[in-house]
Amino acid sequence: MTSIQENSRIKSAEQITEDIFRLTLHAPMIVSQAKPGQFVMVKTSSNLDPLLRRPFSIHDVSADGDLLLLYKTIGKGTTLLSALTQGMSVDLIGPLGNCFTYSGNHDVCLIGGGMGIAPLLFWARHLSSGVTKPGTHRVLLGARHRRELQPIATAFQSLGYNVDLATDDGSLGHHGFVSQLLPPILPSVQGVYVCGPTPLMQEVANQCHEIDIPCQASMETHMACGLGACLGCTIHGSDGTYKHVCKHGPIFDAKEVLWTI
Ligand SMILES: Cc1cc2nc3c(=O)[nH]c(=O)nc-3n(C[C@H](O)[C@H](O)[C@H](O)COP(=O)(O)OP(=O)(O)OC[C@H]3O[C@@H](n4cnc5c(N)ncnc54)[C@H](O)[C@@H]3O)c2cc1C
Ligand code: FES
Repeated sequence: MTSIQENSRIKSAEQITEDIFRLTLHAPMIVSQAKPGQFVMVKTSSNLDPLLRRPFSIHDVSADGDLLLLYKTIGKGTTLLSALTQGMSVDLIGPLGNCFTYSGNHDVCLIGGGMGIAPLLFWARHLSSGVTKPGTHRVLLGARHRRELQPIATAFQSLGYNVDLATDDGSLGHHGFVSQLLPPILPSVQGVYVCGPTPLMQEVANQCHEIDIPCQASMETHMACGLGACLGCTIHGSDGTYKHVCKHGPIFDAKEVLWTI
């Protein structure tokens, strides 16, 4: 599939916390091709600084061509993005990378930590439109504080999912890591999808490996091109080969990844 360059218009720019933002962009060409788990490369400035586009997961899409991004400001590009307002334009390239896959009619668990929650909403929407009912799948979401979690969890709940929450400070749901919610659930699901900080994904991958449950992980690395040309997004595969997150991923079978922290 060829990627599309599209100049999208900002329909809304919401500030969720002091450093978390949700952008709704009208990008009907990219949305018409997008699959859950894919990402877009975003031009965060109208000049050449920063020169490189920044990768963001497709958080959600709508039937009328809107594409949502959920992001945290951590540096120059994301700070510039956070200053954009309704009606302005954002240049996107996408959809890029591979997508989550689901085979059969079985129950699965989606587990996301921090901004790793971003790609899971589109996936949850896709699963809820399939043959299985959302109520039978499980969603586990974690963040530092309730302020970060509540508005995002609501979007999953409105799709009909039962959502279990965890916060680092105990301000909402389980007090601790979201991975601690998984062990009692794991025996009742046949697949797990995880995205978040590497320690979370490694822990979930280990838990799944122990009882032989398939796990797909959405990997994040630094990316320069997003198109397979610069080889800057390398991770080590468990088979001794290098994998390029933008080209072979970002979604990997957790068993294919050499988890070294
Ligand atoms: C496939 C993919 C999907 C992503 N989806 C999202 C998303 O949905 N929401 C979101 O908030 N972020 C997402 N990211 C991460 C996002 O791309 C970075 O936060 C962003 O590029 C930072 O740009 P910046 O210019 O603000 O920061 P920079 O100025 O480039 O960097 C600031 C600091 O953050 C570090 N940093 C930058 N990027 C990364 C990274 N990928 N991993 C670890 N450290 C990094 C830098 O080393 C530096 O210390 C995704 C990354 C990938 C590869
Ligand atoms: S980001 Fe350039 S090859 Fe992956």
